[in-house]
Amino acid sequence: MEAVQAQHEDKRPKIVAFLCNWCSYAGADLAGSGRMDYPANLRVIRVPCSGRVDPLFVLKALEQGADAVLVSGCHPGDCHYAKGNYYARRRLTALLELLEFTGVPPHKYRFEWVSASEGKEFAQVIREMVEALNAAEQKAAMAHV
Ligand code: FES
Repeated sequence: MEAVQAQHEDKRPKIVAFLCNWCSYAGADLAGSGRMDYPANLRVIRVPCSGRVDPLFVLKALEQGADAVLVSGCHPGDCHYAKGNYYARRRLTALLELLEFTGVPPHKYRFEWVSASEGKEFAQVIREMVEALNAAEQKAAMAHV
């Protein structure tokens, strides 16, 4: 158990993913149960709705060592609480502007709609995030050579 835990903790880059229970979490589950290939860099936090994600959660995750944060919820019109994802979109778009203003690179934060039937799309989002993080790390390493 400890070896598995240590192996899990070594995965870099580390992505914290806030996933709405009804769509994106189910999409991630579908990707897993469908054995779709994507990097195991996620720390999933299941939330009832993307509207529950306070922008401070994203900032706190980045502050505490996450290399990137994903917030994902139901597509517009599909939120189980009617307007939660609209509120999320408004708040998290404002957060994106704040992060850009404060110098946080855009590849460290992503907001994405993923439905319960989009396991393939979920896997693609994670692959893209890991690729962007690895590319940024390589670029930074080359700058120090
Ligand atoms: S329930 Fe999924 S975004 Fe609201």
